[in-house]
Amino acid sequence: MRSLLFVPGDSEKKLAKSLGAGADVLILDLEDSVAPDAKVRAREIVRDFLRSLSRDEPRPRFYVRVNALRSGLIDDDLDAVLAGTPEGIMLPKSGGGADVIALGAKLAPREAIAGLPDGSTKIIPIATETAASIFNMGTYRGASPRCEALTWGAEDLAAEIAAEANRYPDGRYIEPYRLARSLCLFAAVASGVTPIDTVFTNYKDTEGLRKDSLAARRDGFLGKMAIHPDQVPVVNDVFTPSKETIARAQEILDAFAKAGKGTVGFKGVMLDMLHVKYAEHVIARAKAAKLI
Ligand code: COA
Ligand code: MG
Repeated sequence: MRSLLFVPGDSEKKLAKSLGAGADVLILDLEDSVAPDAKVRAREIVRDFLRSLSRDEPRPRFYVRVNALRSGLIDDDLDAVLAGTPEGIMLPKSGGGADVIALGAKLAPREAIAGLPDGSTKIIPIATETAASIFNMGTYRGASPRCEALTWGAEDLAAEIAAEANRYPDGRYIEPYRLARSLCLFAAVASGVTPIDTVFTNYKDTEGLRKDSLAARRDGFLGKMAIHPDQVPVVNDVFTPSKETIARAQEILDAFAKAGKGTVGFKGVMLDMLHVKYAEHVIARAKAAKLI
């Protein structure tokens, strides 16, 4: 799961276009990119779009971003889209592990009605969109096997705080949002799910996107959300392990296998079990991307 492209759910044109974008996941949005008076129509469009997809051809995975748990809209959203069998639901303004459990409880009967296996619909919470949620980041751990990734948001958080900005003029996040980003990373890793970086909203700034993506990869994020098809190739490129990275990981694993010890000298550097874990991680990602 390297690239996750948002597509406004009320736009049949963008939905059709999104299929060719090359994203690993398409997030069909019923929340903030859809105006209040278009919500009902967007549900129908997303449901019909999901139903129209061929299950036989290779295709991206589909998530639907529903409206928040306390929006009064989420039950109708789920009723409409579960029949289209999306792989998962993205939960905005998630307040913590209890909200994932609450969403799971809403999904279970709808899966039964749609004839889907219990628990088959996954969840990705957007974990930092409210001030209160920041204090619950540790509660995702063990909350639900449905949770397959965690991501974060800086825009809604800034709006709730009524902050003047969330980035410095040079593009770096200011401290409150760096904290949210770091907590998302730690919470995802502690929960054993994939950490996904938030969107880069200036979609014409390709270099800025590459820098932001490289910084996310450096820090341990394994993918990034996107808002425009042009962003997808950059995100895929950054989050696909390079040939050199894969070769080095394999060499490290071979060196440990040969030595049969917990610590080895590798090209003049001491490596221990931490590096084995990292190398195994790279190889698993390379296999997932069908590179080896
Ligand atoms: N998914 C699919 N197609 C998209 C797209 C998206 N997210 N964003 C743009 N496109 C399409 C456009 O429809 C256009 O198609 P065309 O060439 O057939 O006319 C093409 O890509 C080029 O788009 P462009 O003209 O550069 O942008 P735009 O002005 O049409 O749209 C945005 C700009 C920001 C409104 C649009 O990218 C968008 O809606 N992004 C998603 C927003 C969203 O979901 N936000 C919620 C999460 S933060
Ligand atoms: Mg939002």
